[in-house]
Amino acid sequence: MRRAWKAQRCPPSRLALRRAECRADEDLELGALTPELERKLGAAVERMPAFPRSVQKILELTRNINCLPKEVVAVIEMDPVMTVKILKVINSAYYSLPSRITSVSQSVVYLGINTIKNLSLGFAAVGILPRMNAAGFDVQRYLLHSLVVAGTARQLATQSARGEVDPGDCYIAGLLHDFGKIVFAQFLTAEFHDALRYSAERGVPLHEAELAVIGVDHGLAGALLARRWTFSAELVDCIRDHHDPRAEPSAMIDCLRVADQVVRYRAIGDAGNPWRATEAPAAPLRFGDDMEAIVARVGSLEKIVEDAMMFAQVGKEQ
Ligand SMILES: [Fe+2]
Repeated sequence: MRRAWKAQRCPPSRLALRRAECRADEDLELGALTPELERKLGAAVERMPAFPRSVQKILELTRNINCLPKEVVAVIEMDPVMTVKILKVINSAYYSLPSRITSVSQSVVYLGINTIKNLSLGFAAVGILPRMNAAGFDVQRYLLHSLVVAGTARQLATQSARGEVDPGDCYIAGLLHDFGKIVFAQFLTAEFHDALRYSAERGVPLHEAELAVIGVDHGLAGALLARRWTFSAELVDCIRDHHDPRAEPSAMIDCLRVADQVVRYRAIGDAGNPWRATEAPAAPLRFGDDMEAIVARVGSLEKIVEDAMMFAQVGKEQ
């Protein structure tokens, strides 16, 4: 049975933050969960850190194609941690600029608003991750998986879903899709440890092991977290459904699922759910049903992996 939980959608469908009045109308049902599990899950999601307000504001601003660079600069400059990280990246060997950049406004000139938006999103996600957890979940490899899925989903959207979805929205979906695992690793530690072991020992996908052991999968946990972080209903639904074969296909979920599959197939990073030869291609109508052909079509992920490594390195520095 498809879960009863459903976020009420807020128009328009474009992924981004929605205003508070829209969120107040959300009508969520967690009917499939026992009251005890609902309470535990709700408490775990509440204990997660807040999503940085500055980054929410940047996402909100950049939804408008007429957004002025100075508006984005003003928001970043209010966040000293983000400012330091952006300046560190732009002055790193990665960009190899001829002279040192000393201000956020110069950074925006060099990198453009879109890159600045993605940098701030990536740093926000990295900043929320715990350094370690008792569940035995490798957060650094998880981060590499998420960042490469994000970049791959954006690339797939650009190549195969142009005009249907904003590739930047697919990047956000990729970055956040498995965050429910972090909720579990942090606050349902013993149960998640058992689910990881169940999945490995029985050779079943992790989300199925989570349902069997915990009673809820990381899709729903991540969706509750994304809702708490006030992301759009479209993103919340996409995160909830990313392992549900009965979910309505959409450009965003197709790109996310195939990106996730290709990255697991290539064994880049690890989110506790390795590729299995028994898996059917996730979006056959859009991308075909030959996994090797899909992987070949996606091509080299070298640049995306390089970007991800840079994020992971700079993001964890204090
Ligand atoms: Fe997942």
